[in-house]
Amino acid sequence: MKTYKIAVIAGDGIGPEVLREGVKVLNQAAACDGGFSFDFTYFPWGCEYYLKTGRMMDEDGLERLREFDAIFLGAVGYPGVPDHISLWDLLLTIRKGFDQYVNLRPVKLLKGAPCPIKDVDREDVDMIFVRENSEGEYAGSGSWLFKGTPREVVIQDGVFSRYGCERIIRYAYHLAREKGKSLTSISKGNALNYSMVFWDQIFKEVGKEYPDVETHSYLVDAASMFMVKDPGRFEVVVTSNLFGDILTDLGAAIAGGMGLAAGANLNPERKFPSMFEPIHGSAPDIAGKGIANPLATVWAASQMLDFFGHEEWGSRLIHVIEEMLVEKKVLTPDLGGMASTSQVGDEAAAKLGKFAG
Ligand code: NAD
Ligand code: IPM
Ligand code: MN
Repeated sequence: MKTYKIAVIAGDGIGPEVLREGVKVLNQAAACDGGFSFDFTYFPWGCEYYLKTGRMMDEDGLERLREFDAIFLGAVGYPGVPDHISLWDLLLTIRKGFDQYVNLRPVKLLKGAPCPIKDVDREDVDMIFVRENSEGEYAGSGSWLFKGTPREVVIQDGVFSRYGCERIIRYAYHLAREKGKSLTSISKGNALNYSMVFWDQIFKEVGKEYPDVETHSYLVDAASMFMVKDPGRFEVVVTSNLFGDILTDLGAAIAGGMGLAAGANLNPERKFPSMFEPIHGSAPDIAGKGIANPLATVWAASQMLDFFGHEEWGSRLIHVIEEMLVEKKVLTPDLGGMASTSQVGDEAAAKLGKFAG
C-alpha cells in the first residue's frame, strides 16, 4: 500500500481550525479507497513559534520538509508579527525554496454557491488561474536606502526572467491544450514598459508551439472589469505573481467567497514537494470561534489527491462540496449556515464515505 508522507503546517489563526478538517477528509478518502494511506507529520511553525523562538520555522526547515511527498498548509500571519516577516520567512520561503513556480487556483462556481453577480450563468464562472509563483513582483529584489532619514528611498524591483516567464506560460498553454480550453494572458504592457512588454512577447513566442490553442490577451484593469461583467470570457488564465494574487481574491468573491477558494503550489517536475492550501489568510477577525469555513481546505485536499494521481477521489470531494452547497444544511455562517468548522468537516467526510468500495 502506498503511504503518502504529508508535512502539515497549520500555522496561525484559523489555519489549524480548517486544516484539521482537511486532514479528516484526506484520511476518509484513504480509508474508503483502501489502496493508499497518509502519514501526517505536524510542524508547529508560525507566528506563535516566532514569538517564542525568534524564527518562523527551524533553520533546517526546508531540509526537513524536503523528504515529504507534499505539504498541507493552513494560513500564516497574525497581528503581533509584521506580515512581511511572517510571510517571507515561512510561506514564501517554501514556495521559492521548493521552486513551486506554478500556483494553480480554480475559480469555479459550484451549484448552490452564492454569486454576487446578477444574472450570471453558473457555467460562465469556470476558470483556472495559472499564477507565476516564483519571481515577478514577489522576487524580493530591492533596497531601502537612507532608512529613517529625510532622504529615505525604497526600490522594489519586478524580476521577470526569460526562464521564469517561458516556463509558466508554457505550463499554461499545455494545460489549455490538455483541457481543450482557451488561454488568456493578463498583463499590463501599456504602463509596465519592460516587464509586461516582455511577458506579452513571450506569450506570443511560446504560442507558436501551440497553434491549436485559442488565445486572448487583456490588460489587468480591463480583465478585472470583465471578470465581473462577463466572466465567461475566461477559461485557463496565465498571469504574473501579484496580478494572480489580486485577481484570485476577486475570483473567490465571484465563486462563493474566501471560504471556498483553494490553491496548489506546484513544482511540476516533482523535484521538490508541492504545497496545497486554502488561498485565504489567518482571518484574525473570526479565529478561535470555530466558524471558519473549511471547504477551501477541503478543495485544496482534492487538488492534492489529483496531484497524487487519485483524480477519482479528487472529483468526488468536489462533488461532496457541491452537494453540501446545494443542500444548505451543514454550512458555516459565511455561506449563510449555522454549522461549526468541525461539523462541516464531519459532514464532508460522511458524504465521502458513501463512495467507499
Ligand atoms: P483573510 O483571507 O485572512 O481574511 C479576509 C476576510 O475573509 C476576513 O473577513 C475573514 O474572516 C474572511 N475569511 C477568510 N477565510 C475564511 C474562511 N475560511 N471562512 C470564513 N471567512 C473567511 O485576509 P486578511 O485579513 O487580509 O489577512 C489576515 C492575515 O493572513 C494577514 O497576516 C495576511 O498577511 C495573512 N494571509 C496569509 C495567507 C496565507 O497564509 N496563504 C493568505 C492571505 C493572507
Ligand atoms: C496568497 C497570499 C500570499 C500571496 C501572501 C500572504 C504573501 O495572499 O497566497 O494569496 O500574496 O501570495
Ligand atoms: Mn492572496
